Amino acid sequence: MWDPDRYLDFEQHRRRPVDDLLARITTDPVRRIVDLGCGPGQLTDRLAERWPGAAITAVDRDPAMLERARTRPSAARVDYVEADIGEWQPATSVDLVFSNAALHWLPHHMDLLETYLHWLSPGGTLAVQIPGNTDAASHRVVAELRRSERWAAAVGEGADDHVAVAEPADYARRLGALRAEVDVWESTYLHLLAGSDPVVTWLTGSTLRPVLAALTPVDQAAFVAELTDRLRPHYPTDATGQTVFAFRRIFLVARRPTRPVRTDDSRECVPPA
Ligand SMILES: C[S@@+](CC[C@H](N)C(=O)[O-])C[C@H]1O[C@@H](n2cnc3c(N)ncnc32)[C@H](O)[C@@H]1O
Repeated sequence: MWDPDRYLDFEQHRRRPVDDLLARITTDPVRRIVDLGCGPGQLTDRLAERWPGAAITAVDRDPAMLERARTRPSAARVDYVEADIGEWQPATSVDLVFSNAALHWLPHHMDLLETYLHWLSPGGTLAVQIPGNTDAASHRVVAELRRSERWAAAVGEGADDHVAVAEPADYARRLGALRAEVDVWESTYLHLLAGSDPVVTWLTGSTLRPVLAALTPVDQAAFVAELTDRLRPHYPTDATGQTVFAFRRIFLVARRPTRPVRTDDSRECVPPA
């Protein structure tokens, strides 16, 4: 179960990558939108603001996140669905499939990209942001601690269901092979955080969620305390009380061509929706 309050603690910092993703969506008109892994709904609001006439379906499997999403300003015009985004399907084709910081929780998301492209109407866009920070100290130290003698039995490999992030080039190749118009890039954002051990606070709202869910409250506190000690040397706080947290993110924008593209062997690019 997610904690919407903790996740939203860093909303301002998570906003910039979303701005960068939204800036690359050129589909017009956008009449039907799907927001996959909508979470607490603050980005669904942004989709509703940018495309005021569009019908929006927002899908998430977490009841706490959906409950919060239903309180957002755009809620009246959003159809919220509690479902697994690896299995759910829209009833009709859509103009925009949007997913921010959610697909990395699905180990087979590379294959799902093809499914999502097939949902698009001609000229429609698949726009995805996936955190690509698994090599950063924050995520490496969590992995090391989890596999350490003290914690391996409770939260070893099994608790980590978000390790399947590929390299940007792999995503680009896969989407290109589907004959989509592809725009893939990565950016590392330097978040200047305040407060004590803010990187640990950030992680408890996202990466640590499945790890902590597998522990008793007493063990959760012990795990977080040990993690805090291990992370401090990697994320020092300066004299002004600020900590820099570098966070790499991968962006995938793939547009379905308005007309079928024929290749040498005359296969159509993307099957009609
Ligand atoms: C980090 S939050 C991102 C929320 C929102 N998109 C945002 O960027 O603020 C990830 C969300 O993906 C959802 N999620 C993860 N795996 C899912 C799955 N298999 N099916 C549906 N939702 C999933 C979680 O419940 C959570 O709300």
